[in-house]
Amino acid sequence: MRPRALVTGGAGFLGSHLCDALLAEGYSVVAVDNLLTGRLSNIEHLRREGQFEFLQLDINRTFDCGEVNYVFHFASPASPVDYMVHGVDTLKVGSLGTMNALDIARKNNARFLFSSTSECYGDPLEHPQRETYWGNVNSIGPRSVYDEAKRFSEALTMAYHRYHGVDTRIVRIFNTYGPRMQLNDGRVIPNFMKQALRGEDLTVYGDGNQTRSFCYITDEVDGFLRLAGSDEHFPVNIGNPSEFTILDCAHRVLEITGSKSQVRFEKLPQDDPKQRRPDITKARTLLGWEPKIDLDAGLRMSLDYFREAVTAEAAIRA
Ligand SMILES: NC(=O)c1ccc[n+]([C@@H]2O[C@H](COP(=O)([O-])OP(=O)(O)OC[C@H]3O[C@@H](n4cnc5c(N)ncnc54)[C@H](O)[C@@H]3O)[C@@H](O)[C@H]2O)c1
Repeated sequence: MRPRALVTGGAGFLGSHLCDALLAEGYSVVAVDNLLTGRLSNIEHLRREGQFEFLQLDINRTFDCGEVNYVFHFASPASPVDYMVHGVDTLKVGSLGTMNALDIARKNNARFLFSSTSECYGDPLEHPQRETYWGNVNSIGPRSVYDEAKRFSEALTMAYHRYHGVDTRIVRIFNTYGPRMQLNDGRVIPNFMKQALRGEDLTVYGDGNQTRSFCYITDEVDGFLRLAGSDEHFPVNIGNPSEFTILDCAHRVLEITGSKSQVRFEKLPQDDPKQRRPDITKARTLLGWEPKIDLDAGLRMSLDYFREAVTAEAAIRA
């Protein structure tokens, strides 16, 4: 029998790539999404795939998706632009939505994997971040709608494991990029790609010396599948540990796109983390996972997608 997997947020960036990977691994997949920040175009290529089903619904209400063996819970606005606009929805999907997804796993005796985030570490005082670090999060700041929703979801996931015996996994995802990201979601790579391809200034917030690490989508999804196949119930970081300053990243985008755009500096937003880099020792030892695609290669592999997205957007505006 083919295993059947539920992917919440299946029309989003990560969720849609995960659907592709699960189908390739021989799963049948039911994706649910309310299209708050996701797009049908992300799963358009799966419409005629016999093992794929899409249900447009809000997971903050109880729902029925039939019997499943796995639940991959990926629904939530994820980019700062999205979760600032949809603050209350973000808290709801990270509480009610997570509870509903966990209840489905419990009812079906299914394995559950929760997509957590490096934002659980907040503006970290420990660097790089290991899974044992408890974080430095402002519970009432503008980013708290996302950070605290994710921290609550982690607590709920552990509680369903401890009290209800649900077979749970938690992945702490670090910045991931690649095709299907929204052009206007405010994250570093789509922003720089869009600006470089339009010939606009690349906006760098602060002095650009804050660091980030970027993981290419296929590496990230490989980590999800390995974690799902492991026995680990505690959080595991999945991200690329190569660290770049934002300014360095801007220059790489300029080089790869061949753009003549300039860099423009703007005020740093509140609570913007200064450093972010995963310690992936646990993923390496436990899952035999590490990223294979470096930033330059990943940017080159994403270039066609961003070029098409910029052209399509320009056509709509014209
Ligand atoms: N992309 C990253 O770098 C990153 C990093 C850390 C964590 N994550 C986590 O991974 C998950 C997916 O992120 P993404 O980048 O693909 O974001 P995304 O916005 O592209 O996808 C999220 C999807 O969830 C859907 N959704 C939101 N609320 C919903 C609801 N109530 N009911 C049904 N569907 C709902 C959206 O419509 C969207 O399709 C999120 O949980 C996010 O927190 C992503």
